[in-house]
Amino acid sequence: MKNLLITGGAGFIGSHVVRLFVTRYPDTYHIYNLDALTYAGNLANLRDVENAPNYTFVKGDIRDAESMDQLFAETDVHGVIHLAAESHVDRSISDPMAFVMTNVVGTVNLLNAARKAWKGHEAAHRFYHVSTDEVYGELHNPEDFFTEETRYDPRSPYSASKAASDHFVRAYGNTYKIPVVLSNCSNNYGPNHFPEKLIPLMIHNILNNKPLPVYGKGENVRDWLFVVDHARAIDTVFHQGKEGETYNIGGFNEWKNIDIVHLLCRVMDQKLGRPDGTSSGLITYVTDRAGHDLRYAIDAIKIMKELGWQPSLQFEEGLEKTVDWYLANPAWLNDVTSGHYQEYYSEMYANR
Ligand code: NAD
Ligand code: TYD
Repeated sequence: MKNLLITGGAGFIGSHVVRLFVTRYPDTYHIYNLDALTYAGNLANLRDVENAPNYTFVKGDIRDAESMDQLFAETDVHGVIHLAAESHVDRSISDPMAFVMTNVVGTVNLLNAARKAWKGHEAAHRFYHVSTDEVYGELHNPEDFFTEETRYDPRSPYSASKAASDHFVRAYGNTYKIPVVLSNCSNNYGPNHFPEKLIPLMIHNILNNKPLPVYGKGENVRDWLFVVDHARAIDTVFHQGKEGETYNIGGFNEWKNIDIVHLLCRVMDQKLGRPDGTSSGLITYVTDRAGHDLRYAIDAIKIMKELGWQPSLQFEEGLEKTVDWYLANPAWLNDVTSGHYQEYYSEMYANR
């Protein structure tokens, strides 16, 4: 068995990646899920795999260099899939330094720990950094897409911190010969998405008859991918991606925010047995986000052609699955919005 360190595995995407690796590779990998359990980390996301013999949760903070060194010294880490991050643009606008500390300093701490532990036998290892399309900035011309060659142009504190971490990962690959691979993915959606992001926030507010806050005119465009398809792509890049390369991940699925909100309203009115138009009456246009990027769109040809990855779901199907998951898991949503999820697990760990 090889030890695989997945950081941020209690978060939205990380929990889907952990589940995929734990269940798909029971005889190949022992998964160490390293997570600080910030407000975004929720071990309830992993209840179905938490007792698997090839799974161990490690509560730890990537901002703490010493404990990262210790973890690598004590655990023979074969590979890293690094997802831990502060991930919400609005939070990065109100508290940019938190993003510098986790996304930049935390990533460099992990790279340093790997560099020390892997010295002399670097080639046997792999450091996979999971990043975002937001590092490329925004698009204006409808014919343009982000390719792996697009110049970095981050425009929010979040994307600037992710861009900096991408640069450090590539620099450590070049300077210290750590075998690195990177991917930059478009917006994800699906089960376990924290309800501060657009889609789960709208689902939560529709359920609770609360206003649906659409920033500006709702004209901004995002490119959406079902989270399980991102997890599958991460599996593909980890195993087949060429050393030093970057792969853009996306499903060629662009939507204006306002169109997604209307679609969600229609789907949910139907599922909740409400007259059509009930939920769209909750749409409220609010002050735009500062520096709001206009459009993101990923050109995913490289991963499709070179590694054979394809998304498995159409957006309408994925969105319906997502709504169904939230409707079937009201306790998850209530625990998250009430803050109970953190109390429960901190008590559980205190008692161990
Ligand atoms: P998330 O906010 O849901 O989860 C982040 C996880 O990291 C949480 O479990 C949190 O507890 C943990 N974490 C935060 N700070 C930490 C620290 N200092 N030490 C250890 N753990 C810490 O984020 P997500 O949406 O799942 O995103 C995961 C990764 O994927 C991020 O690197 C993000 O930049 C990238 N990404 C996200 C999207 C998206 O649409 N959500 C798209 C592309 C790339
Ligand atoms: P978000 O889910 O925060 O992801 P990102 O900013 O990383 O793309 O936002 C998606 C889009 O939805 C973005 O254009 C901002 C917009 N938005 C709203 O209009 N209202 C909201 O309440 C939120 C959270 C986002």
